[in-house]
Amino acid sequence: MKVGVLTGGGDCAGLNAVIRAVVRRAADYNYEVIGIRRGWAGLLEPDTLRLDYDMVEGALPVGGTMLLTSRTNPFSKDGGPERVVANAKELGLDCIVAIGGEDTLGVAQKLSSHGLKFVGVPKTIDNDLSATDVTFGFHTAVDVAMEAIDRVKSTGESHERVMVVEVMGRGAGWIAAYSGIASGAHVILVPEEPFDMDAICTLLQGRAKRGEKSSLVVVAEGAQPREREEAAGGGRRLDQFGHPMLGGIGRFVAQEIERRTGLETREVVLGHLIRGGSPNAYDRVLATRFGVAAVDLVKAGKFGQMVSLRGNSIVSVDVKEALKPKLLDMSLLAVGREFQ
Ligand code: F6P
Repeated sequence: MKVGVLTGGGDCAGLNAVIRAVVRRAADYNYEVIGIRRGWAGLLEPDTLRLDYDMVEGALPVGGTMLLTSRTNPFSKDGGPERVVANAKELGLDCIVAIGGEDTLGVAQKLSSHGLKFVGVPKTIDNDLSATDVTFGFHTAVDVAMEAIDRVKSTGESHERVMVVEVMGRGAGWIAAYSGIASGAHVILVPEEPFDMDAICTLLQGRAKRGEKSSLVVVAEGAQPREREEAAGGGRRLDQFGHPMLGGIGRFVAQEIERRTGLETREVVLGHLIRGGSPNAYDRVLATRFGVAAVDLVKAGKFGQMVSLRGNSIVSVDVKEALKPKLLDMSLLAVGREFQ
């Protein structure tokens, strides 16, 4: 058996841990593992390498992905799907372990009707894939964001400023909610709920009046104001999957707060900072469990399935289930609001 493995979409902490686990488990079954570089791009224009255990030893704590990644969508190219399937055949790959989020796994799912066999491993710092309680990479991103926000908060307190921190989170506010609650934010803004600039300003002025001169606002990059939809998406460049390239809502919020309230305000965009670097213990364990389980799915011939965490158990689900977006549990925001 020859198993291809690829990482697609935005990177996250724990990708190398999955690759290491895949290679290790595959060795138990005497499977050959072929790494595919840059996600689906490495099958459109074949770019592969044979992976053995020596090559992944020491990979567990390393951030990023040794296989490189890209947001290549074969379905946006003429003859793309046919080329991917023909190249996989030419390389002698019996199946692919696709490590990715909704885009990468969505491509895998569509390619299966062209004859490609695959199993999926759910990855995204956004934690927005259904059918798994958690995606690896999320908890590391939250830890990094929390540490950065703690630091922003202390300088904000010294200067009696409002600090606005923008974190990633395109369609779902999991990172903003977790990192905001974990760092004691006074306002948390998420894509699931358009925000009201007037209400935010009233709240911050109220805090200032009762002597709380410093306030902390955490905003997900995909959050949108009720009043100005274009602030967070309209007219943006799109990636190959049609997603707007975000960033900038933090600046908008900070400028509006200062303009409307007169409170001195600064903004910080954490952006890719929270995606890079070494996985925390939780993500190392989850990624390792996912990698081992993915090869077990291959062994069982359960193609079209994705490994998933349910409670504390690793199970398998139809990848179609996973492609539905998993939006924020809004009860988390209610908890955050206790601390306004
Ligand atoms: O992978 C998901 C994500 O981190 C989103 O939160 C963010 O909008 C996007 O990727 C950024 O992508 P890029 O690295 O291509 O700028």
